[in-house]
Amino acid sequence: MASLTIRKLDDAVKTYLRLRSARNRRSVEEEVRVILRELIEGREEPLTPFAVPPEASPAPATLRPGAVPEASVTLIIGGGIAAFKSLDLIRRLKERRIEVRCVLTKAATQFVTPLSVSALSHERVYTDLFDPQSEFDAGHIRLARDCDLIVVAPATADLMAKMAGGHADDLASAILLATNRKVLLAPAMNPLMWNNAATRRNVAQLQRDGVLLIGPNSGEMAEAGEAGIGRMSEAIEIANAAEKLLRPPLPRPLAGKRVLITAGPTHEPIDPVRYIANRSSGKQGFAIAAAAQAAGAEVILVSGPVDLDDPGGVKVTRVESARQMLEQVQAALPADIAIFAAAVADWRVANEGEQKLKKTSAGMPPLQLVENPDILATISKLTEKRPPLVIGFAAETEHLIDNAKTKLARKGCDWIVANDVSPASGVMGGDRNTVHLISKNAENNGEITVDSWPVMTKEQVAIELVAHIAKSVTAKSADKPLEPAS
Ligand code: C5P
Repeated sequence: MASLTIRKLDDAVKTYLRLRSARNRRSVEEEVRVILRELIEGREEPLTPFAVPPEASPAPATLRPGAVPEASVTLIIGGGIAAFKSLDLIRRLKERRIEVRCVLTKAATQFVTPLSVSALSHERVYTDLFDPQSEFDAGHIRLARDCDLIVVAPATADLMAKMAGGHADDLASAILLATNRKVLLAPAMNPLMWNNAATRRNVAQLQRDGVLLIGPNSGEMAEAGEAGIGRMSEAIEIANAAEKLLRPPLPRPLAGKRVLITAGPTHEPIDPVRYIANRSSGKQGFAIAAAAQAAGAEVILVSGPVDLDDPGGVKVTRVESARQMLEQVQAALPADIAIFAAAVADWRVANEGEQKLKKTSAGMPPLQLVENPDILATISKLTEKRPPLVIGFAAETEHLIDNAKTKLARKGCDWIVANDVSPASGVMGGDRNTVHLISKNAENNGEITVDSWPVMTKEQVAIELVAHIAKSVTAKSADKPLEPAS
């Protein structure tokens, strides 16, 4: 079929495609293919750009009836005690929107029933090479080729021997011989069987043939008192490996870049038990850290007190006060990009009480406030080690754009992400954000541009911001490598 090039897409459609493809971890081209397929097959997902899914309805873990799966796997379940883990594997694959059709060897049916496999996969289960129902049109050839990947779990010593020898005397081995798809084996057997010279020979032969292996892991065996290499990999490990094979890795436009991010509120102590704080949840800063990490950056996140887990692969430093935050930010330099998403308290108490303040008849204790260091302004105005791109946030309750433009000039940063945090907006603590990206164009006499984005989830804002950063960094990229942080 001829390839299709679409020109003159308007910006809203391009942004929608970028967000949707990033969310689904596909290339934009592949996302367009999926959309076309969905349209043609009558799936009724609206094509309204930025239609954000309702808060209370998370993505379904399994495919909706009639939904188009993105990839399909033929899962061959061999006859071993580890076959019970394959039931979980079916669930894990389906969670990843991978359609699973299962084949059980005769021995496998001694460990798991076709009924439970069928109930989990929502598909009929295949067990017999000579089944008239599926073989009237050479069903084993369809099972071998109408899929994107074949996974064998557990791959027993016997099944691997058959594969290595090119046997095809049952449905599983016939499929493995007839396939032109990648094959991923998850071996599981007793350590003596795994180490046996015959198995070693077969494994080596299969690897030469291009067959891929995951595991086996070492650990306790089902046989009492035995341990060693031979345990099948966990279902989640196999599902992750399958997903990697099925979906090419995302582009990593920030690979080699160091991104420093602040997030959350700060707590400014009044005495050992009381503090001044604000309602920032840290969600936006954490989402930016995750998006930058996914884009390949080395990410350092300096966070005030928040109730959020560390994003995977990100170096997180937790602090309490503005002064601690500044200290950690300075220690993390140099960075290529610094994003100050924290809601830093502007003031702190001048004389923090060493003991808990007591109620006295003298009335309320006077709280003398002093100004906190401005982290964004301090870093923006550095002469040495200033990150080439410094981005601030402006949380405003009125005159959003004007205040943000003034802030951009006053703080000396390059971009400001302005957002309305009036109580009616629900931004503080909520999951969505409506932002305006205000940037100073150094190449154009410092001209200020305002790019207003539609309402998005904080994750989508993060992905979009990282996409803008990647574009700007790529455009500039005459960068020299950074010194390691002190
Ligand atoms: O609080 P304000 O509106 O001035 O915050 C604007 C930007 O400045 C935000 O990016 C915030 O993280 C940063 N900021 C800072 N240190 C402060 C106050 C604000 O880094 N003391």
